[in-house]
Amino acid sequence: MSIKLIVTKNYQEMSDEAFKVMKEVVTSKPDAILGLATGSSPIGLYKNMINDHVANGTSYSKIKTVNLDEYVGLGAESDQSYVYFMHDNLFNHIDVKEENVNLPNGKAADMDAECARYTALLATMQQDVQLLGIGANGHIGFNEPGTPFASTTNIVKLKDKTRQDNARFFASLDEVPTHAITMGIANVMNAKKILLVANGKNKADAIKAMVEGPVTEECPASILQRHADVVLIVDEDAASKLSK
Ligand code: GLP
Repeated sequence: MSIKLIVTKNYQEMSDEAFKVMKEVVTSKPDAILGLATGSSPIGLYKNMINDHVANGTSYSKIKTVNLDEYVGLGAESDQSYVYFMHDNLFNHIDVKEENVNLPNGKAADMDAECARYTALLATMQQDVQLLGIGANGHIGFNEPGTPFASTTNIVKLKDKTRQDNARFFASLDEVPTHAITMGIANVMNAKKILLVANGKNKADAIKAMVEGPVTEECPASILQRHADVVLIVDEDAASKLSK
């Protein structure tokens, strides 16, 4: 197994360690393809990237990005959409070019065609690094337990647990979309490098299952045990159930 585990004291240190990995990719390859993620876990990393861009001029002008996922039915006009999140938390504050930014379109007229479009795009854009968070049930992107490891971009019916976990970003549970479009697990595994960040006690079971459990579709993140280059950065709470 080639998961490199880094345990940090807290969220800030987790974000600082993740930034070191990201900065190494961006400076060694200024036209790198970054696979990016949403959620609260990567926000500290994105802040570090913005601060570094402002203070040190690290440039993203040749960088291309591909995001993991989007809610079905939400677009840039909704502040709950992932396209909005990415602009608000990162893209608007660095010099990445809008034409180099890619997310699945949650408002496409034909969502099956959108899945095919995104998978075809990903085939031309191997991620130099794919950033991931992890769901409390072990999901990556929005690939819920039971998703085949061979999956490519797909439409997911969100589990109740995931909708409840994400309800904190919405006015009420009813407003959380029921479906999402997500890069598949095979698309994630195609990345040259994986950088997964997780913090908090509610991620401890998922991190244990990912690292020490069997490789099973019941824990989508467990497939990462078979990836050649994974950096897993977790705070002490998320690491608290690991046996070593
Ligand atoms: C969502 C996203 C995932 C993310 C997960 C964890 O369901 N689709 O990509 O990893 O939530 O989010 P958070 O970092 O907010 O805990």
